[in-house]
Amino acid sequence: MTRYYKSSGKKSVKRRPPIPNPTNLHDHTNYKMAALLVSAAAFAYALTLIFLSISSNSLGLEPSIDRIYDVQVVNEFPHDPDAFTQGLLYAGNDALFESTGLYGHSSVRKVAIRTGKVEVMHKMDNSYFGEGLTLLGDRLFQVNWLTKTGFIYDRNNLSKVKIFNNQMKDGWGLATDGQVLFGSDGTSTLYQIDPQTMKVVRNHTVKFKGDEVYNLNELEFVAGEVWANVWETDCIARISGKDGLVLGWIYLPKLRKGLVASGNSQIDVLNGIAWDQAQNRIFITGKLWPKLYEIKLQRLKKPFKGDIKKLCMPPAVHF
Ligand SMILES: *[C@@H]1O[C@H](CO)[C@@H](O)[C@H](O)[C@H]1NC(C)=O
Ligand SMILES: *[C@@H]1O[C@H](CO)[C@@H](O)[C@H](O)[C@H]1NC(C)=O
Repeated sequence: MTRYYKSSGKKSVKRRPPIPNPTNLHDHTNYKMAALLVSAAAFAYALTLIFLSISSNSLGLEPSIDRIYDVQVVNEFPHDPDAFTQGLLYAGNDALFESTGLYGHSSVRKVAIRTGKVEVMHKMDNSYFGEGLTLLGDRLFQVNWLTKTGFIYDRNNLSKVKIFNNQMKDGWGLATDGQVLFGSDGTSTLYQIDPQTMKVVRNHTVKFKGDEVYNLNELEFVAGEVWANVWETDCIARISGKDGLVLGWIYLPKLRKGLVASGNSQIDVLNGIAWDQAQNRIFITGKLWPKLYEIKLQRLKKPFKGDIKKLCMPPAVHF
């Protein structure tokens, strides 16, 4: 909290009204008047400070703060522990679409949230390693690892309707705002793709405080932002799709560590974010995680002790 006050204070210093100097005054009345003015000015200044700190906190306008969020788990559901989750999104009616990876185990599936049961399954050819998945209209779009070949499926029966050429350097993540597709390829680039032509129409380098954020993985469009799992970390970056700047971080090592502590030593990294826009629910899971979590973001109660750049921004990896 202190940090918010400090920076809002800086803003209001410029707006502080001039305070008359009582030592320049020669009679008693003027002195009283000046004292009154000083206290009025001080009061106004204090009010301005309070107002600015409240508004900048609640509107999230403060650009200089590390905006780091913790999570509160509001629900836990079963998740297929053999699903190497690479793409996740809300399908409506308490169901998810999920894309899984690993050669010989890759699939696209529709999964019931409450039971974890796979309702519809498309098993992919053994030569493909499934990656990011997104839904636009009746079509599911999927990219694949280490190949430029992408697939488009019918959302109802998951049958393949089209093959496309992925113009990114690789296929890692996909999301959509309902207009364009956002794509990631494991670099620091966030792509915008035309869903008609599948051509890259725009791209931004994702940066946090001037440094590039590499290893952008599974993506989700959440309330105007693009959220990205950063591969091999416990971090989700909240990115502005407009300029690629990181707006905040969700740091959640506790779910993975909790699973490992309760005997799930084989699990892989946090990966997979789904947003139910209608009910504003957020679901997350990981590769080979036996659980899917519904979470809510929480502001930290204490200042963050770690180094976000060390924890969430590993160096670029090349495959
Ligand atoms: C899948 O559903 C679509 C309509 O949504 C239909 O045109 C297509 O024939 C179906 N494919 C299979 C294999 O059932
Ligand atoms: C990103 O866009 C710029 C133009 O803004 C272009 O020069 C560059 O080649 C693009 N990079 C990728 C990786 O598509």
